[in-house]
Amino acid sequence: MLSHQANDGGKRTSLHGHWSSRMAFILAVTGSAVGLGNVWKFPYIAGQNGGGAFVLVYLVCVFVIGMPVMMSEVLIGRRGRRNPIATMGLLGEEEGSSRQWQWVGVLGVLAGILILSYYSVIAGWVLAYVVKSATGEFAGASSGQVTAIFTRFTGDWRLVTLSHTIFMGLTIFVVARGVERGLEQAVRFMVPALLLLMFVLLGYSINSGYFADGVNFLFTPSWDKLTWGSVLAALGQAFFTLSVGMGAIMAYGAYLPEETSITGSSAAVVVADTGIAMLAGLVIFPLVFANGLNPADGPGLVFETLPLAFGKMAGGVVFSTVFFVLLSFAAWTSALGLVEPAVAWLVEHFHKTRAQATVVVGGMIWLVGLGSVLSFNVLSDVKFLAGTIFDNVDYLTSNIMLPAGGLLITIFAGWVMCRNSSADELGGSGGLYKTWRLLARFLAPIGILIILVNAI
Ligand code: PHE
Repeated sequence: MLSHQANDGGKRTSLHGHWSSRMAFILAVTGSAVGLGNVWKFPYIAGQNGGGAFVLVYLVCVFVIGMPVMMSEVLIGRRGRRNPIATMGLLGEEEGSSRQWQWVGVLGVLAGILILSYYSVIAGWVLAYVVKSATGEFAGASSGQVTAIFTRFTGDWRLVTLSHTIFMGLTIFVVARGVERGLEQAVRFMVPALLLLMFVLLGYSINSGYFADGVNFLFTPSWDKLTWGSVLAALGQAFFTLSVGMGAIMAYGAYLPEETSITGSSAAVVVADTGIAMLAGLVIFPLVFANGLNPADGPGLVFETLPLAFGKMAGGVVFSTVFFVLLSFAAWTSALGLVEPAVAWLVEHFHKTRAQATVVVGGMIWLVGLGSVLSFNVLSDVKFLAGTIFDNVDYLTSNIMLPAGGLLITIFAGWVMCRNSSADELGGSGGLYKTWRLLARFLAPIGILIILVNAI
């Protein structure tokens, strides 16, 4: 996927090579965007925030704020062609501002490390559910049994540590060897296959007798339930699911060939990502109501509803196994984006090999992740600020660090960079460019600020 014979007509080239095609870039960014955020996090956050109104705010945040931030990240990344820290510093100087913009990159690297620390724990749950599915643990299980399986598993810190370790090991392995090429192929079949299985589940959900209740919950807004806290959660989820605000997309943009359209690629990714999240919601909420579960159940929601449905389905053992395998892949390709800024920075700045850099970063992330492992068992009673250790890391990254990063990135792209630079990257100064600039200069930063100020 990364070829080293890029011809950029005298412009900067990336040390790490370039994507071989526009498709390679779209696949990598889609792989990063589509993950646990869509299937695990979106439904449980929507459930906790009362559905309807939250979902609408989320959609507005995705298109009005998330998408312009994504385009800003790609264009900054491609212009700088370095890791996010170096790129922000370099362009800051080049555009006549200051090298201190590099701190935006630092914030992103930290956010990536923190997010992956708990992302890996949840991805570990998914790995464990592959085994549980394959061995038929869910076959014919009742709602009480499925819940008990979940509680028993997450309550055992040794099993959760083991699966967290396996997932981090897989991530380190791929990033260290730089064999993303294989994963690019995986994304090519994984996203369509995941979609297909979700449609099978959707069929099941439609027949559950509670489809209308699910749709109602997801799309009928009850505005009185909407607080600034849930608006912030919607904004945070928009950033999280699109992988923006922390430099992952900036790092990928650094490897993007000159001629590729940033607007077109970003739109494709945003639409695919949003579609999968909506589908997940439409599958899960009817099942929640059909089984008398609580939509505000939290992080266990998907791990309780889906096995229940699979358990009652003909061929459920196979479907369920394949589903959790696909979800593991989706989490894996997202994890790569989360470490890429840190790894690229260590390689460029300290002249480490890719393998050394990955092992150092990955080891640190694994260690920090133990805090989230223990949040569901040994330390489940340790609560402060937003809740358990896991809750706090999640709140700090999704609701504060990513929006703050996005705010600074849009201000940089919209105000610090001169018009010529951004128009050059976005391919002209036509209507699309004007729309992006309007969003990046005004709507996105002001929107983020208003939400942050009111919620905190
Ligand atoms: N977007 C990914 C998901 O939805 C998570 C992620 C966030 C990946 C930030 C990379 C960077 O699962």
